[in-house]
Amino acid sequence: MAKKLLIKNIKTLVQVREESVEKVCGKDMAILPCINNAWLAIDDGLIADYGSMEDFPGIIDWKGLEVIDATDRIVLPCYADSHTHIVYAGNREGEFVDRINGLSYEEVANRGGGINNSANLLRNTSEEDLFQQSMIRFNEIIKLGTGAVEIKSGYGLSLESELKILRVIKRIKDLNIIPVKATFLGAHAIPPEYKDNKEGYINLIINEMLPAIAKDNLADYIDVFCEKGYFTAEETERILLAGKKHGLIPKVHAEQLSHSNGILTGVKCGAISVDHLEYCDDNDIAALLNSKTMPTILPGAVFFLSLPFPPVRKMIDAGLPVAFASDFNPGSSPSGNMSFMMSIGCIQYKLTPEEVINASTINSAYAMEMSAKVGSITRGKLANLILTKKINSYGFIPYSFSNNHIESVFINGEVF
Ligand code: NIG
Ligand code: FE
Repeated sequence: MAKKLLIKNIKTLVQVREESVEKVCGKDMAILPCINNAWLAIDDGLIADYGSMEDFPGIIDWKGLEVIDATDRIVLPCYADSHTHIVYAGNREGEFVDRINGLSYEEVANRGGGINNSANLLRNTSEEDLFQQSMIRFNEIIKLGTGAVEIKSGYGLSLESELKILRVIKRIKDLNIIPVKATFLGAHAIPPEYKDNKEGYINLIINEMLPAIAKDNLADYIDVFCEKGYFTAEETERILLAGKKHGLIPKVHAEQLSHSNGILTGVKCGAISVDHLEYCDDNDIAALLNSKTMPTILPGAVFFLSLPFPPVRKMIDAGLPVAFASDFNPGSSPSGNMSFMMSIGCIQYKLTPEEVINASTINSAYAMEMSAKVGSITRGKLANLILTKKINSYGFIPYSFSNNHIESVFINGEVF
């Protein structure tokens, strides 16, 4: 029999969308529809119905129904984390200390650290070990409230190792715990064996990696790190278009450390999202306004690398939608805590709690084409939900930064 669950006396049911929207833009980001003193019914892993306790339906099938009393607690849809690199090996605490002692992210990378350091570790890690290490992070982010996730390759940088990562992502996806999208990021850095032959590495990506990935259906998206010292806008375009030929939808790591035209290239290639955006300018904002591309901010990487703040306030005021994601990775954001990303958004970028919650639920779901399935309290969507501890309002989550306000996470209607 299908499992039925009723959560009653919910202090506030947050992000209730009668009609499913795919994203919210500009001024609408300040609007977060809620029901106070609410109930929510779950049937067979999906949101079946909801409403105010004042008009709780008399007719309800109580047979086999489990009831949870959420007095003084808040329910919101799980976070959608549309940009992570959680499949990696080892860690980079050594570089963390190097940076504390004065080296920049670029200087660490130029010494053979950075992405190539992680690639070296991963190449020497077995597929099983990589899966086990990654599962620890996967379980951890779900406990922190993430109910849908995108995971990138990009720490392999060889045919064999990129495939190894993508197979691990597929294994995680096939567990069918939360929805997962896989992104091929072979163009994350130039591996040492191609140091003087970038063209050779790009050809390897286009002529060998992409066909092998497409053959086994290992990726949904193609991504490129468009940045000085990594891949130029022209190279980014070539790689994205090659990915598109194999049915992969583009995403771009854009404008993170300098203005490198990643946003314009992403928009031109029909990217579903462009991510980072610290150096986004007015021309980029204008291009994004005429596109379906979701500008995605990664507050963890800005915080961890002490980068200039991305112009998020300006983007929203211009009418753009904005998504938030964690960028969970060993080099620039070793955390997948979306509640903390929202705190950074409020404290440092001057977004309101309503705006950061929209950015971290419905808009980040859009950035991985999942807004029909997750990202709001809507009938028929997955019952992937956060039940908070006793707190006053949803604004308390970003306000009381880095504290854990989550009592339990429901995945497909069951406590995780
Ligand atoms: O999204 N920007 C490029 N890639 C990652 C960081 C990679 C690393 O340092 O391992 C990012 O920030
Ligand atoms: Fe990233």
